[in-house]
Amino acid sequence: MNLTIIGCGYVGLVTGVCLAELGHIVTCVDHNAEKIAMLSLGKSPIYEPGLDALMEKNMSAGRLRFTLNLAQAVSEADVVMIAVGTPPDAANKGKADLSAVFKAAQSIAPALRAHTVVVTKSTVPVGTGKQIKSIIERTNPQSTCDVASNPEFLREGSAIADFMSPDRIVIGVERDAAAHILADLYHPLTNQGFALLRTDLETAEMIKYASNSFLATKIAFINEMADICEQVGANVEQVAKGMGMDARIGEKFLQPGPGFGGSCFPKDAMALAQLAHENNVEPAILNSVIHYNLGRRASMAARVMDACAGSVQGKNIAVLGLTFKANTDDMRESASLAIIPALMAAGVHIHTYDPQGMANAKELLKGDIIWSASALDALTKADACVIVTEWQEFRELDWAHAREQMHQPLIIDLRNLFAPDDMAKLGFDYYSIGRKPALRQAVQNKTISAA
Ligand code: UGA
Repeated sequence: MNLTIIGCGYVGLVTGVCLAELGHIVTCVDHNAEKIAMLSLGKSPIYEPGLDALMEKNMSAGRLRFTLNLAQAVSEADVVMIAVGTPPDAANKGKADLSAVFKAAQSIAPALRAHTVVVTKSTVPVGTGKQIKSIIERTNPQSTCDVASNPEFLREGSAIADFMSPDRIVIGVERDAAAHILADLYHPLTNQGFALLRTDLETAEMIKYASNSFLATKIAFINEMADICEQVGANVEQVAKGMGMDARIGEKFLQPGPGFGGSCFPKDAMALAQLAHENNVEPAILNSVIHYNLGRRASMAARVMDACAGSVQGKNIAVLGLTFKANTDDMRESASLAIIPALMAAGVHIHTYDPQGMANAKELLKGDIIWSASALDALTKADACVIVTEWQEFRELDWAHAREQMHQPLIIDLRNLFAPDDMAKLGFDYYSIGRKPALRQAVQNKTISAA
């Protein structure tokens, strides 16, 4: 099948590469000449594990190419996917900004063939599919194309595996003809037993928002449970485990942390709340998830200051991890963007390291920050360490050696990477989320009394 993807951002690029891997002929279009030049050389502008190798393989096999020529790519396509950005419109209470989507619909309309299916991959508010259809009909009254919704459920950092082994493929269509074409497109996956759910356009659009908002709610909920655990002396990790063993709840997305970030959950929860509001539904649950999460991210710096006995003025603090989660270089809505400026405002000297996010972070975090070459470098002479992102590299660090390099053996772990007692035994004062702090003094006292 011939497929054209409009937009070579995260979603467009991963989708294009993976559909080529499934055997389709894919052309990815973008208006950014620099990006197309880079992609045409086989270089991905984003960090996503496994993407470069898959790109190279499919480009060499002649199944994947990149172009600025939208009209030609669209005129050859059986399916055109719109995968441009839908950023939150700050001036409009976080409502999704659909200008790029509508512009894409307008640009593709004149070049569409009779039976092409125009698919929205971008996350768009309910009703957008119908608006795309009317833009196409207005721009090209001869067009008989179909419009469909096919939301993506890809997590940054594991997007290729998510695409190749989906929990479900959702297609929202108006007519059988479009359903058949999309069923053919995904046949290499449904053939292996992966489920495909057919709905109408509006329902597919809603499934995407409802899924992201539900996952965001799950995270906000476990974070609130962590707050309670800290006050009552319970262990949130075990609480999450015990809850997750109930098949009705499930164990996933119950990892407490500094609050959810990234380009999707915060944006989509806000956009859905705004959509609800415009349709006379007051989304009380969503509103409190959004509100709670913002407050949580903002409160993380105070947690660090508390662990430092209230005073951080003039201290050297190592911040390990900058990206919104591990295995990405994406800084959007990362907790580090709230924590670092607040610590700097309190007089902290920040030494920071992230395996992939430093270049993007440098664009967003200004001021007197020391960008370290490694985690150990950042920790050397530090008065405290704050772990913001759950990189495997931090789990594997030689912490006994790190402790010797630090000025004070204090860790505030916002991702619960370690068992508290293990860190206290290594000589750290260790504060984490939703669990009792583990203090080296307590371990020493226990050892003395046992002797
Ligand atoms: C999310 C969804 O998981 C994807 O299914 C969806 O396709 C994507 O948004 C999208 O709409 O494009 P992503 O933003 O890449 O994917 O990252 P997640 O792994 O979902 O993490 C989001 C945030 O929640 C991160 O800040 C992460 O640290 C946090 N999180 C996640 C937790 O704090 N606890 C958890 O248990 C899971």
